[in-house]
Amino acid sequence: MLTDLDGPAVERLAGELGQVAIQGDVTVRADIDRMVETAYRRWGRLDVLFNNAGVIQGKPLLDLTEADWDRLMNVNLRAVFFVLQAAARRMIRQDPMPGSELRGKLIQTASIAAYRGGLPLTAHYAASKAAVVSITRTAAQALAPSRITSNCICPGVVDTPMWAKLDADWTALEGWERGKAWKRRTAGIPLGRPERPEDVAGLVAFLASADSDYLTGQAINIDGGLVMGS
Ligand SMILES: NC(=O)c1ccc[n+]([C@@H]2O[C@H](COP(=O)([O-])OP(=O)(O)OC[C@H]3O[C@@H](n4cnc5c(N)ncnc54)[C@H](O)[C@@H]3O)[C@@H](O)[C@H]2O)c1
Repeated sequence: MLTDLDGPAVERLAGELGQVAIQGDVTVRADIDRMVETAYRRWGRLDVLFNNAGVIQGKPLLDLTEADWDRLMNVNLRAVFFVLQAAARRMIRQDPMPGSELRGKLIQTASIAAYRGGLPLTAHYAASKAAVVSITRTAAQALAPSRITSNCICPGVVDTPMWAKLDADWTALEGWERGKAWKRRTAGIPLGRPERPEDVAGLVAFLASADSDYLTGQAINIDGGLVMGS
């Protein structure tokens, strides 16, 4: 089951994958409840949550407003927590997954920005992602007795519409031509190319699979070596 704010996009992808689509806003309580409820009504259970929605904004630290802060934190932090909580509240009452000792798996999307303090233009984004790592670990501790795991991924510089937005914000501020921020940011990636969504998907598939059943409370960098050792 796939959910996204963008109804037509989620319908299209779910159609391609032969899956169920739900248009929903993770910042809206009723939508969170509807997403979780739909899974339980259809399958009677929810094995894996991939809590991935996020937004970005590039703006100098000294110019960030309270509205900027609230808008970003509402999606990247508040919603991540309440989606996790809604899923965990139901998972805790279900039987373990067939052939597994686990009841469920929670996977959040943080970022390498969680560790690096982010870029100078993304103070609120970096703070939100550090908080996602924190929530992931607390959830792992709180839910381990119920045999629910919680891990997060920390992607690097991935070629998606989010980076197109950051490049637009950043190049406008610097007076550069479009694409220059992306080029500069991807130039030093040790594995020699920008990250693709498929690179991230491989790690998420592993975390969703039985191969990672003994893993919990971890934040895993998937970044082509960009922040080795931090
Ligand atoms: N692109 C990168 O370089 C990068 C790096 C590290 C982490 N991330 C994280 O990866 C995740 C996915 O980002 P992406 O690069 O695919 O960005 P994206 O902008 O391409 O996709 C984000 C998706 O989230 C959806 N969304 C936004 N607000 C929502 C809401 N309120 N309710 C429901 N859906 C909502 C959007 O419609 C969009 O489909 C985000 O959490 C992002 O912070 C991205």
